[in-house]
Amino acid sequence: MPHQTPQQVIEAQRQDWNRVASGWEKWDQFFDRQMAFLNYRLAGDARLRQGQRVLDLGSGTGYPALLAAQIVGSTGSVIGIDLAEQMLAAAERKATRLGLTNISFRAGDVGLLPFEDRSFDAVTSRFCLMFLPEIPKAVAEIARVLKPGGYLAAAVWSLPEKNPYLKIPMDVVKPFMDLPPPDPAAPGIFRLAKPGDLADMLRQAGLIEITDQEFPADVRFPTAQEYVASLMELAAPLQNLFAQLTAGQQQEARARILQATERFQRDGAVALPIAVRFVSAQAPA
Ligand SMILES: C[S@@+](CC[C@H](N)C(=O)[O-])C[C@H]1O[C@@H](n2cnc3c(N)ncnc32)[C@H](O)[C@@H]1O
Repeated sequence: MPHQTPQQVIEAQRQDWNRVASGWEKWDQFFDRQMAFLNYRLAGDARLRQGQRVLDLGSGTGYPALLAAQIVGSTGSVIGIDLAEQMLAAAERKATRLGLTNISFRAGDVGLLPFEDRSFDAVTSRFCLMFLPEIPKAVAEIARVLKPGGYLAAAVWSLPEKNPYLKIPMDVVKPFMDLPPPDPAAPGIFRLAKPGDLADMLRQAGLIEITDQEFPADVRFPTAQEYVASLMELAAPLQNLFAQLTAGQQQEARARILQATERFQRDGAVALPIAVRFVSAQAPA
């Protein structure tokens, strides 16, 4: 892919995630049940509690912002920020259904936070930071808006070989295309996968008490077909690759993905391994 300016990356992200927003809403209940444990882990790492003011970065359709709002209660508040207005519209509908009045969502780039210094007790983020064109800039912003003693808790994807859930489709699509070797510094799903990558940036921004832990789990689908269907509707980066294949190649790629899931069949379901990197840090007192 030709080099993109930060502004081009941001605009492409905005378009990508807006395009898949309806798919995220459609699959919401399924993935909420499959991945809610990640939200609870983030809430724990961020030490969320009643009355706090929390900022969630790249909330998408509301994770973990909605859980944070339930924890901080009516004496606290949560702001979720994301580039994709349509993802946020889905998050707002969910907040309304849950009767939450202490949460608001704003469209914007998390690399430039429109908030005062030292104004949040905690910052959370699930599966967003690796998509930013200038991660150190966003990390400096996080350090700026955290109150002294406040925590950041972030989840990013760990290494591809530990994430068959994400790697299978990427491996299947690659042979059909003439892709240059991936630029390890370019924004993308695995940009913060290596141990220490994000942690080092947090340290450089002056944050302390840094933890970095890989957390293995799996996502369970009743059938392999449902896995493939969800990928096609949710995974914006994969959609972009698929769009470059002919109809025949797409059909062949789908068949190969189905075949690759066979070794993960268990008890009548498909359990696809994932590995999430949880990174947390504290603002100095
Ligand atoms: C994989 S989704 C994760 C959404 C949600 N946190 C979750 O875990 O379900 C990634 C989200 O990051 C958002 N995003 C990507 N780059 C961003 C940026 N520079 N500023 C704000 N949001 C961004 C996208 O719009 C998208 O909603």
